[in-house]
Amino acid sequence: MKRTKDYRPRLNSFENNLINEYRNSKESRVLVVGDTHFPFDIPQYLDFLKDTYDKYNCNRVVHIGDCVDFHALSYHESDPNGMSAGDELSLAKRHLQRYYKVFPDMDVLFGNHSRLVSRKAMTSGIPREWVKSYAEVFEVPNWNYHTELVIDNVLYTHGDKSGKARTAAKRDMISTVTGHYHTDQYVEWFYGKNSAVFAMAVGSGINDKSYGMAYASGGKKSAISCGVVLDAGETPICLRMPLEKYKEDSKYPLI
Ligand SMILES: [Fe+2]
Repeated sequence: MKRTKDYRPRLNSFENNLINEYRNSKESRVLVVGDTHFPFDIPQYLDFLKDTYDKYNCNRVVHIGDCVDFHALSYHESDPNGMSAGDELSLAKRHLQRYYKVFPDMDVLFGNHSRLVSRKAMTSGIPREWVKSYAEVFEVPNWNYHTELVIDNVLYTHGDKSGKARTAAKRDMISTVTGHYHTDQYVEWFYGKNSAVFAMAVGSGINDKSYGMAYASGGKKSAISCGVVLDAGETPICLRMPLEKYKEDSKYPLI
């Protein structure tokens, strides 16, 4: 009779329990995605995000806003050699659909670029009933859009209304996570007599060399990074994307 091998777990019971406790815990472990400005993002940023999500065993994803750029709809000058508004929208949708496949349940904040469509409608006197929702246009029915979001007493907000994370956290005395300032990546703590709050700026996933980002050329390089917030809002970590490690083509091609 063929003898089956004895079961030899690689973990001892303490290690096994620790992992199960961690996996089954209900607390939020949030991956925070920086501004992506589709279609002017770095393709490998998604690989970095997925690796970070797995590494920290995250169970929630928040996009900090400016998911799509809408360069052609800008109130500033648009590049006359750039795509038409229609072509840019189609390409942005394909970029966004890559993310939808990897993170099908994301919470997405509105940023100043996200508001361009409704602002243009307002400028043209078009009632909001005529304006479709983002979920409908981009075909992302399971993504939830918010102006701002609080998880575990941590405020997630794009940053265009609140100001920089460190300003907002100190002013409002609530731990605050922002994007918007593409060159900012930091975590800072502020201590009062009885409590402490943190500020985190998550950076971005944008391609500084794209024509959509040309308005910032000559300035500082953008911070290519993301954040995680662990331990029920107690542990903020900001991670720089090691660009040298992500030189290969993305594992997630355009759809
Ligand atoms: Fe932005």
